[in-house]
Amino acid sequence: MGTPFIENFEWISIPVAGTKSEIYPGLIARSRFNVKTYHPELFARFDIVLPASLNRAVPKRQAEFLAGRYLAEQVLTELGLEKFELQSGEDRAPQWPERIRGSISHNENTALCAAHSGLSSSSGVGVDIETYLSQERAEALWGMIINEQEKSLLTASSGSFAHQLTVAFSAKESLFKALYPQARRYFDFLDAELVRIDPSAGYFELVLLKDLHVDYLHGRVFQGTYLAGEHDVITFITCE
Ligand SMILES: CC(C)(COP(=O)(O)OP(=O)(O)OC[C@H]1O[C@@H](n2cnc3c(N)ncnc32)[C@H](O)[C@@H]1OP(=O)(O)O)[C@@H](O)C(=O)NCCC(=O)NCCS
Repeated sequence: MGTPFIENFEWISIPVAGTKSEIYPGLIARSRFNVKTYHPELFARFDIVLPASLNRAVPKRQAEFLAGRYLAEQVLTELGLEKFELQSGEDRAPQWPERIRGSISHNENTALCAAHSGLSSSSGVGVDIETYLSQERAEALWGMIINEQEKSLLTASSGSFAHQLTVAFSAKESLFKALYPQARRYFDFLDAELVRIDPSAGYFELVLLKDLHVDYLHGRVFQGTYLAGEHDVITFITCE
């Protein structure tokens, strides 16, 4: 038998910070997926709709979308929403069922989906997986991701600058995914500042530098956690 498309499906737990509970009250699913064994018929086999906008997308994009939706379906089923068709909005944000907050991420071989029942209108979750930037890319790109103060913070913390910059980049993507569905406003990497990073605890804090929404105002601090792997990092933010 050949290598399956979805491999090593698992439920994982990630410590959370900044909420009343220490453990994320929702579910997080992770799996590896194999772009080499992807073919479009897998959408029908998994009973997942390939959106028209992705009809002509490259196989890698279709494969990561399928893997993310497959995980979302597992998570939603566990939350009591079997067979919910998770569509993407025009802004690409998944249209989660009412009261469900969720987030999807993928890199070239791993997909993740986190979701929980949101009890308040400001509740959100963001998850992101990012393959470490090379030293060259980190040096070329850092000015688009962080400001001078953040650069000093990252340079002073343990670990290579490229790895720490990847954590900062991913943390900001997680923040964007956690807030966007409620705020409905785009914000840039320099609109949030990393003010604390603790590699021994896998903990970080980001402060918002602009008003986005009545609940997400300039100065609000968001706490997040991260799991640093050998090749990539997962960041996670949940807010109430
Ligand atoms: C949207 C974005 C965060 C996605 O990140 P990425 O590293 O490119 O890709 P990931 O695999 O981690 O995440 C992609 C998934 O995010 C989700 N997503 C896309 N747009 C989203 C949005 N506006 N809100 C919430 N989730 C979104 C989708 O589920 C998408 O996967 P899918 O299209 O297969 O369903 C990124 O492309 C982006 O636009 N970033 C700029 C905005 C930003 O990050 N600002 C920083 C603020 S501090």
